[in-house]
Amino acid sequence: MQIFHARLNAVEDGTGCVVCQPEQLYIRQLALKLPGQFNNKSCQLATPNCNITFPPPTRMSRPAGVGIIAIEAYFPSQFVDQTELEQFDGVSAGKYTVGLGQARMGFCTDREDVNSLCLTAVQRLMERNSIGAEQIGRLEVGTETILDKSKSVKTVLMQLFGDNTDIEGIDTTNACYGGTAALFNALSWVESSAWDGRLAIVVAADIAVYATGSARPTGGAGAMAMLVGPNAPLVIESGLRASYMKHAYDFYKPDLNSEYPVVDGKLSIQCYLSALDHCYQLYCKKAQKANPESKVQLNTFDAFLFHSPYCKLVQKSLARLLLNDYFLASDEEKSKFPEAFNSIKNVKMEETYFDRDVERLVLDNSKQLFEEKTKPSLFLANQIGNMYTPSLYGGLVSLLISREASKLAGNRVALFSYGSGLASSMYSLKISTDLAPVQKLVDSLNHVKPTLEARRKIAPEEFAATLDAKEKNHHKVPYVPEGSVETLFPGTWYLVDVDDKYRRSYKRKPL
Ligand code: ACO
Repeated sequence: MQIFHARLNAVEDGTGCVVCQPEQLYIRQLALKLPGQFNNKSCQLATPNCNITFPPPTRMSRPAGVGIIAIEAYFPSQFVDQTELEQFDGVSAGKYTVGLGQARMGFCTDREDVNSLCLTAVQRLMERNSIGAEQIGRLEVGTETILDKSKSVKTVLMQLFGDNTDIEGIDTTNACYGGTAALFNALSWVESSAWDGRLAIVVAADIAVYATGSARPTGGAGAMAMLVGPNAPLVIESGLRASYMKHAYDFYKPDLNSEYPVVDGKLSIQCYLSALDHCYQLYCKKAQKANPESKVQLNTFDAFLFHSPYCKLVQKSLARLLLNDYFLASDEEKSKFPEAFNSIKNVKMEETYFDRDVERLVLDNSKQLFEEKTKPSLFLANQIGNMYTPSLYGGLVSLLISREASKLAGNRVALFSYGSGLASSMYSLKISTDLAPVQKLVDSLNHVKPTLEARRKIAPEEFAATLDAKEKNHHKVPYVPEGSVETLFPGTWYLVDVDDKYRRSYKRKPL
């Protein structure tokens, strides 16, 4: 512990002192945080018996480049084909594939639950990036797949950390938003006075299943684990976040005996689009305040990522941002929009969520923007479906595997996170211009496409029977799963049994 003698009147008038001047900012921060320790205003420079002690200044200064260092994607080894599901469900051809924009939907057998998904993703993240248990000081979980009303998933994950029991963090829940809240917690910890120099892990995981009916094709399952710390290749932009939180019953899970949510589909779409409008407008306002010289618009970003309930809604969301840009534009800027926009000059934004004419206008005029800025990030969403909390981070992985590292370096990316109920945020990140760490990150995701292709296609009949059996056995004890271990990917954690006291035990399939 270094000892500093601070002349506090010097700190107050901002001039600093001979010894402390290089640490002036540090002393100021400490004076604000611990005012009680600064009562002795007569404290003199180099007074031998001065009893004010400080930790080393580096611990108080804000670490640089805080963000995502590495990311791991895990998804189950089987899927149902959406064209086959259309036939099985007896809906018109194209409803799920074209109308919703979904190709395949991942799902779990009873061998996997949210604990096992997180165990797999976190362990693979650490193995792939050679991270030892002792390097982790915080572990955050975002999920809405609740197995226990008291014991967190995080505590189950402690099985991976051996003797390192000094790890902060627990679970965060609010529909699909929990992963983002968990990430914000981890970022705050690294930037806080509590940070001790170790790294954080954030894992977002869910099993998204719906009762039979119109919502069922919008399910999915998976986990994304992220390593968070300073000097990251994906730096979260600080001071630029916009949130919109409100009370709504659009999608919720009041029945703890069922895996299925209660959904008001149309309301959930309206809530999602309204949250997007609010977050984007506030983000633009805050960005302009921080830098009055430059106005934020769609073109500010190289990529725009969204929580993806289904891909078609994301395409409509990108188009919606064009509508926002139009309404936020000055008269002079409006004149540069295609003439057809004149027809919507007087419409009210909040009345346009289901207005077909407005939707068509902005969809037609944002096609190229969508291809460039958003479509690449929908790869996993199209192939797996809505993973709930990991969905947005699956979008990030999709972007990272969509092009060469040299084309990603220096990109600015906007992210929109939405969880029903409702909680939403927009924030942004900058991909480092230093190619080596970006290349390392991209290389660490080389397994994603081949693993996705190695999944087994399951007939809709078997998919439906699996979901029925899972719903029937949900919370049944004692329970021994029947799903095959053989068909799991190597390195997957799986459920061995649940005993009569609801205690779950897991094993890992060898790598
Ligand atoms: N070919 C092409 N397109 C078709 C076809 C076809 N044969 N049939 C229908 N479509 C189109 C429809 O026109 C519609 O397009 P539109 O959205 O542009 O109007 C689209 O496919 C969907 O058809 P709908 O009849 O509107 O679908 P339905 O009402 O049956 O269900 C819904 C859609 C509400 C999204 C449902 O799947 C659901 O409730 N999902 C869960 C809730 C959800 O995901 N909400 C989003 C935010 S909240 C969250 O993330 C959980």
